[in-house]
Amino acid sequence: NSVVLAYSGGLDTSVLVGWLMDQGYDVHCLYVDLGQPGEDREAMLKKALDIGAKTAVAVDVTEELCRDFAFPVLQWQARYENIYLLGTSIARPLIAKACLQRAREVGATAFVHGATGKGNDQCRFQLAAEALDPTVKIIAPWRMESFRKQFPGRTEMLAYCEQKKIPVKATTKKPYSSDENCLHISYEAGKLEDPAVDGIPVIDFGMTVSPQEAPDKETSVTIGFKSGVPVSLNGKEVSAAQMVLQLNDIAGKNGVGRIDIVENRFVGMKSRGVYESPGMTCLYAAHQSLEQLTLDRDAVHLRDRISPEVAEMVYYGFWYCAKMDALMAFINELQKPVTGEVTLGLYKGNVRVMSRTSPQSLYDEAIASMEAGGDYNQTDAEGFLRILGVPLRVQGRVRLRDY
Ligand code: ARG
Ligand code: SIN
Repeated sequence: NSVVLAYSGGLDTSVLVGWLMDQGYDVHCLYVDLGQPGEDREAMLKKALDIGAKTAVAVDVTEELCRDFAFPVLQWQARYENIYLLGTSIARPLIAKACLQRAREVGATAFVHGATGKGNDQCRFQLAAEALDPTVKIIAPWRMESFRKQFPGRTEMLAYCEQKKIPVKATTKKPYSSDENCLHISYEAGKLEDPAVDGIPVIDFGMTVSPQEAPDKETSVTIGFKSGVPVSLNGKEVSAAQMVLQLNDIAGKNGVGRIDIVENRFVGMKSRGVYESPGMTCLYAAHQSLEQLTLDRDAVHLRDRISPEVAEMVYYGFWYCAKMDALMAFINELQKPVTGEVTLGLYKGNVRVMSRTSPQSLYDEAIASMEAGGDYNQTDAEGFLRILGVPLRVQGRVRLRDY
């Protein structure tokens, strides 16, 4: 009777190790490394083993997260409710996949996660896991009344750790909950629950300085794309993860990529969230400006109409499904000409496009220019507009408008 636990090393999932053992399970802990900085992996795995886990291993999926999850979503220019870059949402199906792979290795029969019954994360974990293995058993202790009775709050968890000799880091409780990977850090709950409360004095930001503290001088950075995939930074080829991590550093120092929103969760309630995603903010801006140069008008307008739907699917957790597969085939085809370079100027929280160039550019200076010449005859516009105006002139005769 064994389970794989998506283990982060924090208080909640450490308690889960003990609690699962109390229920009679053999516990296999999987620490999914998503490029979140500043955590001592070895210490966390040792802690899990000390508590009594059968196995505790880490798997580094940072590259995969950027290359196969975040970048296709970037190509869609997908933003949930126009703003949120989906940094937590997109990581969840990958965590589920890694846990199921581990379950197969150790012969575990269930996947355990520490998401609550009120949030989005449970949806993403579960929908992804079920799509990959329709027979998978999912244990979500926070959805179980018996578990919530035993652990109504942090005090009871700390008491449990003391009783079970589970080491707890002597950190003072942050007045919010956060989730971190290389794409972003999210902050919500606690003091941030009141949408009238300013997040800035509450949050200890991990990736960005405030725009006020950023340098007084603009930093420029050049990003190269090949068929919609970011491939080079300031002229140097980099891997997907290096791209994101290095941009986080450059943009974070310039206070780029903070947002503060009230979003609609899949489970129905509104939730206030603050996010910082410095690198991805730059990639969205650079990618969009290269598309302006290289994509056909009607093709990109079509993409833009479907993009909110892709964002919704990622946010809700419908990653592994027929509809997403088809959408990915579409975006892959559309992105073929999105090749070239964009230089951004980063300054005190702002991102501006300084220049863009592409061998696939559809921009025709001769046609666009106000100067005479090029394959565009202004006399043709006469007939173009006379035809377009047919229904309007008919209506104008029948239905008189006040003017
Ligand atoms: N609201 C964001 C989302 O749904 C962030 C969720 C953060 N999750 C967490 N366990 N702290 O994608
Ligand atoms: C949680 O409830 O586990 C975190 C927040 C969310 O999933 O939306």
